[in-house]
Amino acid sequence: MCLISALSRATSAAADDLPTSGMAERVQACTPCHGVEGRGTNDPYFPRLAGKPSGYLYNQLLAFRSGRRKYRR
Ligand code: HEC
Repeated sequence: MCLISALSRATSAAADDLPTSGMAERVQACTPCHGVEGRGTNDPYFPRLAGKPSGYLYNQLLAFRSGRRKYRR
């Protein structure tokens, strides 16, 4: 599964289920790769998100969307 399809799946799942109970539901699509609460998994290929500055993470997402940051498919 590529990152973009995971991201759009997360977005559309949230839209289908509105109103959602909050962030925990929205990030369910992210946990197989990034771990519970973004703490990472045993596979170091998937970056840990927990503890990184929100501004940094936000900019990575914008960069993925615009293509400034590339990822392996
Ligand atoms: C299919 C596995 C997978 C899923 C699902 C996934 N990601 Fe990722 N994510 C990755 C990989 C792999 C990278 C590293 C990409 C690279 O740099 O090549 C990454 C990178 C990131 C980064 C940048 C982290 C850093 O330290 O620079 C952010 C932020 C991120 N993902 C957020 C999310 C969010 C939010 C979701 C859920 C909506 C999500 N990801 C779902 C695999 C995934």
